[in-house]
Amino acid sequence: MICGLAADHACADDKPLKAVDFEKDVLPIFETKCIRCHGAKRRGGKLDMRSLDALRAGGVSGPAIKAGNSRKSLLIELIHFNEMPPKKENPRVTKEELELLRKWIDALVE
Ligand code: HEC
Repeated sequence: MICGLAADHACADDKPLKAVDFEKDVLPIFETKCIRCHGAKRRGGKLDMRSLDALRAGGVSGPAIKAGNSRKSLLIELIHFNEMPPKKENPRVTKEELELLRKWIDALVE
């Protein structure tokens, strides 16, 4: 059984508080909305978003995420202020996805 993106729809054998999973929940968002500019071919700001390690390492401005602190994470800031994806680029990140990304970073440990 595939447990989908919707965090509220708990799967049968899931723990009550479902943790956000990088591969299952986060990567699909990045793949549709970011990785064409932050992956194998292009790497805007020298940032590669295909793995957790690469996100921690970050790009020219330093780490893209700060484990345990979404508010201090550049990646969240840029999405929040509508700077990523760059203006006029689609698809945009939805509110729900941004919440999920915050939850994911806040639960990360250094
Ligand atoms: C159309 C191409 C494009 C897309 C799509 C895109 N980016 Fe970017 N991104 C760039 C470019 C180019 C830069 C570097 C120049 C700049 O800062 O404007 C950048 C820079 C960044 C940086 C800063 C890197 C650094 O260290 O300076 C972050 C963080 C970032 N993007 C996150 C994202 C996220 C998250 C998404 C998806 C939600 C995304 N980007 C989608 C082109 C893109």
